[in-house]
Amino acid sequence: MKLLQTALLASVLAVLCSPAAMADAKNPKIGFSIDDLRLERWARDRDYFTAAAEKLGAKVYVQSADANEQRQISQIENLISRGVDVIVIVPFNATVLNNVIAEAKKAKVKVVSYDRLILNADIDAYISFDNEKVGEMQAEGVLKAQPKGNYFLLGGAPTDNNAKILREGQMKVLQPAIDKGDIKIVGQQWVKEWNPTEALSIIENALTANSNKIDGIVASNDATAGGAIQALNAQKLAGKVPVSGQDADLAAIKRVIAGTQTMTVYKPLKLIASEAAKLSVQLVRDEKPAYNSEYDNGSKKVQTILLKPTPLTKDNVKLLVEDGFYTQAQIDGQ
Ligand code: GAL
Repeated sequence: MKLLQTALLASVLAVLCSPAAMADAKNPKIGFSIDDLRLERWARDRDYFTAAAEKLGAKVYVQSADANEQRQISQIENLISRGVDVIVIVPFNATVLNNVIAEAKKAKVKVVSYDRLILNADIDAYISFDNEKVGEMQAEGVLKAQPKGNYFLLGGAPTDNNAKILREGQMKVLQPAIDKGDIKIVGQQWVKEWNPTEALSIIENALTANSNKIDGIVASNDATAGGAIQALNAQKLAGKVPVSGQDADLAAIKRVIAGTQTMTVYKPLKLIASEAAKLSVQLVRDEKPAYNSEYDNGSKKVQTILLKPTPLTKDNVKLLVEDGFYTQAQIDGQ
């Protein structure tokens, strides 16, 4: 009895000494602030992330800002006041979160930048696919299909740091062909919020301005590729002008099989989501994550986990079924 009392007293004391730390390390609370759940990929990221985090004993609170920077800031504030231990953020605007992240840090909340790098802020870690490589793969895909002619560069959202990194990767591959005079960039534009409708009207205008003489479109993701291909289709050019993408969205996979989109880039979302869940829990538990890279975000060198993307064409599309990303029925479905 006495022994039991002492043990009980000891554990009560331990809890009193560090109530938060004790409870949190075992069952961390994670806030997941996502730019925009209306896009196909992010809903999958959310589901995979939540499943992986719960397996590790964590509880996840998800918020979607729907491409609104003010809403994202309030949602992050809300997560801080809920007492989460770590906030994982897919930023809408890379450059406006420094104040709210300073608030998080003051409240001893860890911050992870997910897929897109948050600039000029005191974040603890970053996890993404190698976006420069993705950009290289996109340019390589279009260049292989059409090594000469007029090119249009359809960039991502100007608020997204990935859009710029992708462009750097694309230019690495395109510059030698430009220098040789094989290809000519006849236009380039960033697509606000990665919006397909905006991409559609940009390519409509580009086709008109160039009397339909566009031979290749380097589109930075599948959503914008979809808009571009719709514009090409209206001019009976879909399938004749190579277009790149990324994300392996289901609609894009169907276009790749139909031959209207040249390629996409497969980023296994289950991998980034589960690695991010592990990383978040490790940060709360003061364990050492397996970083393999480092990025300067303007205010510090951010420890980074960088994952490998895979280019996807008609030839290796079956990889998606083998990997469990889609079922064959989903790919074949109408
Ligand atoms: C990028 C991301 C892409 C794509 C895009 C639009 O930052 O890396 O995979 O989804 O945003 O949401």
